[in-house]
Amino acid sequence: MKNKKVLVTGGAGFIGSNLVESLLNSDNSVVCLDNFSTGKRENLKNFMNNPNFRLIEGDIRNYEDCLTALKNVEIVFHEAALGSVPRSIKDPVTTTDVNIGGFVKMLFAAKELASLKQNPNRAQNPFIISKLDLHSIREFDFTKYQGYIEPTTTLEQQEDKEK
Ligand SMILES: NC(=O)c1ccc[n+]([C@@H]2O[C@H](COP(=O)([O-])OP(=O)(O)OC[C@H]3O[C@@H](n4cnc5c(N)ncnc54)[C@H](O)[C@@H]3O)[C@@H](O)[C@H]2O)c1
Repeated sequence: MKNKKVLVTGGAGFIGSNLVESLLNSDNSVVCLDNFSTGKRENLKNFMNNPNFRLIEGDIRNYEDCLTALKNVEIVFHEAALGSVPRSIKDPVTTTDVNIGGFVKMLFAAKELASLKQNPNRAQNPFIISKLDLHSIREFDFTKYQGYIEPTTTLEQQEDKEK
């Protein structure tokens, strides 16, 4: 891939910064959107003076930041996310907000700017997106939160109820 205008979300992270380097080395121009929640400025220091690199400090949960970062972009590599299983157990709200909510905002901002072509095999409506991972959420072992949330029904009991 050469001479493309590329957005790398999470470009200050481990995967993102290696991607940025590789894309710049292949004569692409790169925009990086990152809020530095886990990413490091150090990872970007070699690109800051490169005229083909632009950093936008912002958040994928902010729709305006998504639109700003996507302007004139042809291709998106979406690497912004909160990793870490322990973090997701400690703070499931923030993890799902970023990894699901932020991802959906990026998708719809890209659609608004018509800079991504729609894949006809993918989900056709937001309701489907909101339900995508429901099965695995229901299978999640909520006993991890014993003392905080009382598990009321098992997946099997729930499925019996729905029959
Ligand atoms: N590292 C691996 O070995 C590996 C393997 C497979 C898949 N992945 C996936 O690749 C993606 C990136 O992983 P990584 O290891 O580079 O993680 P990382 O934590 O190093 O990078 C994530 C980047 O996203 C940024 N970010 C987080 N929340 C943000 C937000 N709300 N708005 C803007 N930026 C935000 C962070 O600041 C960070 O720079 C994740 O989806 C991860 O699950 C990683």
